[in-house]
Amino acid sequence: MRIFAHRGNSSVYPENTMAAFRSALSVGAEGIETDVHLTKDGILVITHDEEISRVSDGKGQVKDMTLEELQRYDFGSWKGDAYKGEKIPTLIELLDLLKDTDLILNIEIKMGFVLYPGIEEKLLELIKAEGFLSRVIFSSFNHYSIALIKQLEPEAKTAPLYECGLFQPHEYAKTLGASFIHPSYRSMDPRLLEDLKKNSIGVNLWTVNDIQTAQYFNTLGIDGIITDHPEELIQALRRP
Ligand code: G3P
Ligand code: MG
Repeated sequence: MRIFAHRGNSSVYPENTMAAFRSALSVGAEGIETDVHLTKDGILVITHDEEISRVSDGKGQVKDMTLEELQRYDFGSWKGDAYKGEKIPTLIELLDLLKDTDLILNIEIKMGFVLYPGIEEKLLELIKAEGFLSRVIFSSFNHYSIALIKQLEPEAKTAPLYECGLFQPHEYAKTLGASFIHPSYRSMDPRLLEDLKKNSIGVNLWTVNDIQTAQYFNTLGIDGIITDHPEELIQALRRP
């Protein structure tokens, strides 16, 4: 079972910063989950919310600020003084970090509260130019967005995000052309998993933060879990 670090090693480091991503690598995560948005000047940047005040000393929407403006703010101090000076990363910075690794990158396209016209084309262009297509899973709660990714690039791997009792997720994934589904772990059970496996649809669950739940899904044969505690879960699950 692959362990994805949710927003990097976000239980310890400020989420979605280069410090959190470097830590995910050093603790041995096999994948990283992150969230992308588009700046006013069309740059793909990494942060969770559309509005930056929860995780920075700035205020305002990503869509209304240029990269240069966003980079003036501190995205680390809210988590502790030790992280002062962490900047909002661009997606290219994260790709550079992962270049010489074999980690899988799960890019969540944030297309909910704010719509970013053209984000799918921009993402694909960058991911292909950097040679990452085979290592990326594009996910979103906006299923039109991942359907568009698949339409633009049939080789792309996509995954609908959801948190509900979705009816026959294996059929739904096939409709979308999705290689994976990314449900909340509460939306998965052994019967659904059996149908998904029969149809070769992979399953990565979020956000699994305790050892017992991780062990349960590991035993069931889930493909991956997305966690805020990669170090703790890796140690527990890989223990000989
Ligand atoms: O991709 C899994 C998870 O990140 C989805 O929710 O709000 O943490 O982006 P959120
Ligand atoms: Mg996310």
